[in-house]
Amino acid sequence: MTYTDTIKSLNNNQSIDLEDTTSVSSSVSSSETDSLLLEKEIELVEPHVGYKKVLVTGGAGFIGSHVAEYLLNRGDDVVIVDEMNDYYDVKIKEGNLKLLEEMVEGQEGRLSIYKGDICDEAFMLDAFEKEKPEWVCHMAARAGVRPSIQDPYIYIHSNIKGTTHLMELSHKFGVKNFVFASSSSVYGGSSSTYFSEEENVDNPVSPYAASKKACELLAYTYHHLYNLNVTGLRFFTVYGPRGRPDMAPFKFIDRVSRGLELQQFGDGSSSRDYTFISDIVDGVVRSIDRPYPYQIFNLGKGNGTSLKDFIDLVQKHVGKKANIKMMPDQPGDVPYTCADVRKASYLLGYKAKVSFEEGISKTASWYRHAFEKDLIEICPERQANGLGRAPSAPSLVSLVDVRQSPQ
Ligand SMILES: NC(=O)c1ccc[n+]([C@@H]2O[C@H](COP(=O)([O-])OP(=O)(O)OC[C@H]3O[C@@H](n4cnc5c(N)ncnc54)[C@H](O)[C@@H]3O)[C@@H](O)[C@H]2O)c1
Repeated sequence: MTYTDTIKSLNNNQSIDLEDTTSVSSSVSSSETDSLLLEKEIELVEPHVGYKKVLVTGGAGFIGSHVAEYLLNRGDDVVIVDEMNDYYDVKIKEGNLKLLEEMVEGQEGRLSIYKGDICDEAFMLDAFEKEKPEWVCHMAARAGVRPSIQDPYIYIHSNIKGTTHLMELSHKFGVKNFVFASSSSVYGGSSSTYFSEEENVDNPVSPYAASKKACELLAYTYHHLYNLNVTGLRFFTVYGPRGRPDMAPFKFIDRVSRGLELQQFGDGSSSRDYTFISDIVDGVVRSIDRPYPYQIFNLGKGNGTSLKDFIDLVQKHVGKKANIKMMPDQPGDVPYTCADVRKASYLLGYKAKVSFEEGISKTASWYRHAFEKDLIEICPERQANGLGRAPSAPSLVSLVDVRQSPQ
């Protein structure tokens, strides 16, 4: 069955549940998008089933560790490469690795961990020679929009050089499928409401966004030159248990829990797409299992949540009132943005299942549990190398900016 056949059957078959995606089509011209997709005649790739050994880069981080957990649970073996940098508290990353190690305790060969830089040639060659992974899930990167403006070079290093190095090794070692994390931040310069993969994203507005766009371009080149199967995934703000402390969902829950001030920019009506971690893991694993020759997919929830509703839900599930400081609208802030996930739905069978309320409730209860057990610590305001990052200490309250920015 081709992509075209699937779209036709989806259009004709009312019984197929496209709840989330129909909410998208009410605002996007569905006939316009579908006719663009129809032209492509993409052959649907059947999922590979059975055992895999998967190299998960960034496997100590938020998304990578959740993907690794899922893969180990279903019986795959996992090889992790992570440099354990201090962009946020390294104890969180060590905790993630410990959790994975405990899962497979006593089961030799299920999990190998390599601590080092993906750009280090000798180190990575050694890892590929020893492990010979046939499937790569490349999540390692310097993340964060604003820190990339302060130190663009580290983003060029980890994101562009790192991804190129991994694709070089992947084609030399005959990797069957290379899946990597791109980002919704590539849409940064766009004034659209629903972001579609068809959109031109040639105007990234931060070094981070530019680095992700560069990875998408290089990925095409590796596909073109060496027939490497490559899929790039544009994640829309991912949150959940073990989430990154520099991102709004964690920061909101943390600050409301501790009674610290939140700055609300504008009237709270601006809206963004937030995706719960289990939905992202589902999309990543669906992509790993389906070696498309070259594809880019949005992975989001497919509908937005306003800043006001976001804060209300955090208050409800933390059980405390937020200390909100109203701030004027920021010039250039777009009122409503969210992912058009129809392509991922058609080609991967992806459909986000977790509502924002359920996701925030789960995240808030994880946060309470993690603090009770002293598993996490609020990150210091500066990294060891002196670069700034998302502040969270009471002394820096005035610097806190909890606007919703795409990641
Ligand atoms: N979390 C989100 O909302 C979001 C949104 C869009 C895109 N992404 C992308 O998803 C991926 C995973 O993000 P995350 O939220 O889990 O971030 P994370 O920071 O928790 O994980 C990234 C991991 O990569 C490692 N790493 C960075 N540079 C490395 C290098 N040179 N060598 C080896 N390891 C290195 C870090 O130590 C970290 O553990 C990233 O590529 C990120 O850009 C995330």
